[in-house]
Amino acid sequence: MAHRFRLDEALFLERYWQREPLLIRNALPGFVSPLSPEELAGLSMEPSVQSRIISVHNDSWRLEHGPFDDVDFQRDDQWTLLVQQVDQLLPSVEALKTCVGFLPTWRLDDVMVSYAVNGGSVGPHFDRYDVFLVQGIGRRRWFLGDFCDDSTPRLEHDDLNLLKSFTATQEYLLEPGDVLYVPPGLSHWGVAEGECMTYSLGFRAPKMADLLARMTDTVLERLTPELLLEDAHASEAGAPGEITPAHIQNARSALINAINALDDGSWLAEVVSEGSTIDDDMTLIDPLLPGAVRLLPGCVLTWIRRQEQLEVFVANESLLLDSDVEPLLADLCSARAVNQQSTVDSEQLLLNFLIERGLLVNEDV
Ligand code: SIN
Ligand code: CO
Repeated sequence: MAHRFRLDEALFLERYWQREPLLIRNALPGFVSPLSPEELAGLSMEPSVQSRIISVHNDSWRLEHGPFDDVDFQRDDQWTLLVQQVDQLLPSVEALKTCVGFLPTWRLDDVMVSYAVNGGSVGPHFDRYDVFLVQGIGRRRWFLGDFCDDSTPRLEHDDLNLLKSFTATQEYLLEPGDVLYVPPGLSHWGVAEGECMTYSLGFRAPKMADLLARMTDTVLERLTPELLLEDAHASEAGAPGEITPAHIQNARSALINAINALDDGSWLAEVVSEGSTIDDDMTLIDPLLPGAVRLLPGCVLTWIRRQEQLEVFVANESLLLDSDVEPLLADLCSARAVNQQSTVDSEQLLLNFLIERGLLVNEDV
C-alpha cells in the first residue's frame, strides 16, 4: 500500500525541511498501524533484529539490548521497546517510506518502530538526522526544545545520549495518523499517554569528511602528478617569507579549477551507496525463485545521468548502462517489484548484475 502525507510538499521543503519542526495533523487520515504491539515484541525476540528497551525508574535510565524474551516485557517501570530497520522486515512497514517520496530516496534510511507503556519515553535527546514521527497506535505527547550540538551537556550514562537539562518550548499531543517532523539537532521528548506505538522515518546524510576524502581521492587519481601550481596572476612578492592572501587565493582557485575539470560527482554516489544496511542473514537468502523480484531491503542503489547513459552505483561497484534502463531503476529504487526477465538489453544487464551479487530478493521475502 502506498501512502503520501497530506502536506503542501513545496511549502514544507521551502520552510521546514532541515530547519524547523512541523506538526502535520492528520497527515495519514484513517492510518492503521501495520504492526500490533505483540508483533513488534515478536520481532524483538529474533536474534537478527536490532532491538532495545529503554526504561526509567526513579530518574534512573536503563538501556537493554535484544533479543528479548517474554519475561523482559513483564516489568513495572516505564519502558519503551524500539526495533530498528523494520522496513527491511515487513513490506507493509516499508510502504511507509513512500510518504516521503518528495525527498531523495537515497536520503531515507530506515523505519524504526517503538512501543511504550503509559509514561514510557526514551528521554529528552537530539538526533543528528531528520525524522518524521508517525503516530501509529494510542497517543504520545511530544515536547520540543532548543537546537543542540556536541557541546550541549549530556547525562553521564554509558550508552544513552540524554540531555542534562531540557526546557520545552512547544508541546503537541499526537493521535494516530498525526506526524511530527523533527529537524536534525532539535531536542525532543515524546512521552506515551497510555500504550502507544510510533513509527520513525529516519534519514541519513553522508559525513562531510567522508565526501571530501572521497572527492580528493578521485580527483588525485585523475590529476597529472607532475602538474605544478602556476601563479601568473599572483606574482606579488609580499614581505620576505610571507605567503600573502593573494598567494593562498591563487592556489585555492587552482585546486577548485582542477576539481571542476576532473570531478564527475561519482564520490557522492559511491559514499551514499556504501551506506547500505544489508543484513548478513538477508544476503544468505535462497537462490531466486521464478517470479517477481525487488531490491534487497537495506541496499542503496543510486545513479547519475551521464550524457546518453546512466552510471549506476551499488555496493561499492558501478556500471554504465543505456538510459532506457531508467524505468527499471525507478521501480527498484522505489522498492517496487519487477520481472526478472526483460526484453530491454540494459534492463537485463542491470538485473543480471544485481542477481549475481545477491542484491535482489523474491517479492514476498
Ligand atoms: C520513540 O519512538 O519513542 C522515540 C523516537 C525518537 O525520539 O526519535
Ligand atoms: Co529522537
